[in-house]
Amino acid sequence: MRILAIETSCDETAAAVVEDGAGILSNIVASQVDIHARYGGIVPEVASRQHLLTVLPVVESAMAEAKVAWQDIAAIAVTFGPGLAGSLLVGVNVAKAIALTQGLPLLGINHLEGHIYSNWLGNEQPVFPCLCLIASGGHSDLVLMTGHGQFERLGRTRDDAAGEAFDKGARILNLGYPGGPAIEEAAKNGTPSLPLPRAWLKGSDDFSFSGLKTALLHLVQDKDSLDASFVVEAAASFQQAIVDVLVTKTLQAGERLGVGQVLLGGGVAANKALGDHFVRNSPIPVLIPPPSLCTDNAAMIAACGYYHFQLGATDGYDIDVVPSLILG
Ligand code: KG4
Ligand code: ZN
Repeated sequence: MRILAIETSCDETAAAVVEDGAGILSNIVASQVDIHARYGGIVPEVASRQHLLTVLPVVESAMAEAKVAWQDIAAIAVTFGPGLAGSLLVGVNVAKAIALTQGLPLLGINHLEGHIYSNWLGNEQPVFPCLCLIASGGHSDLVLMTGHGQFERLGRTRDDAAGEAFDKGARILNLGYPGGPAIEEAAKNGTPSLPLPRAWLKGSDDFSFSGLKTALLHLVQDKDSLDASFVVEAAASFQQAIVDVLVTKTLQAGERLGVGQVLLGGGVAANKALGDHFVRNSPIPVLIPPPSLCTDNAAMIAACGYYHFQLGATDGYDIDVVPSLILG
């Protein structure tokens, strides 16, 4: 069974065709990162206009690369939240139009659930119950998954998300946008030697990264100039502080709940230092999608859509966007 998925929740225009929730026939991502980089972050109005320009060519490429025609597609899956309203609207309306004209079922997918389903696109299939850490530009969510479509949110960020912290930290260090890959690159040449705080929020599965960002800002403000050796030390120390908190708190929750696996997802899961730290310290198997499936893509939306379809959870053609949608 082949599903065409469309993902336009933020600044990537993406479409993919996936077979039986696991086999990627095509996975096209048109990134807007160069356009937003000149503003130092995502400009929502620019993002939705860019989606309008690219969405149809991206869908056509996904169909062509998968070598499929409309009669080979069983359903259309689309991200309907959370995300930027104007961006989500583009994908949802294109998905509705295709579903309506081709007479296909429509599957509205939660972007955060999609990130988790990146783990179903690999060779090793996840087992339930599992603990999912979704660390992206907008979220740091810790979610217990007990079955397909069954989620309980245990923790979330109280202020900045992990990816947002990377982006803001990179801006403070003049490393450009997007910040996560920039900090990861700079950190390779430094050691985590600077004293930066970790917010443990004991007794809670929530996260907080805004104090860390402020501490970095104060370190920078105490300097006369940003020399290269300071920047790499600061990048390594900042990255280590985020990694320590994400890994320690996730593993504490995993052991407390007795889960059999930890699943990572979201752009921050592409960070190699994070993955290495998880694998080194976890007594529980940890599944980490390849970097291209951690950042926003439509293959994960198609994988998730497959399981929605199996559960009979199709949506009406009147589905609307929900920018502040939560998971669990
Ligand atoms: O999941 P994603 O592509 O989009 C959202 O749903 O937000 O995540 C984007 C976030 C950005 O904040 C970006 O800086 C961060 O993921 N990111 C990384 C890395 N690659 C992307 N953070 C740390 N290390 C990376 N290698
Ligand atoms: Zn995302």
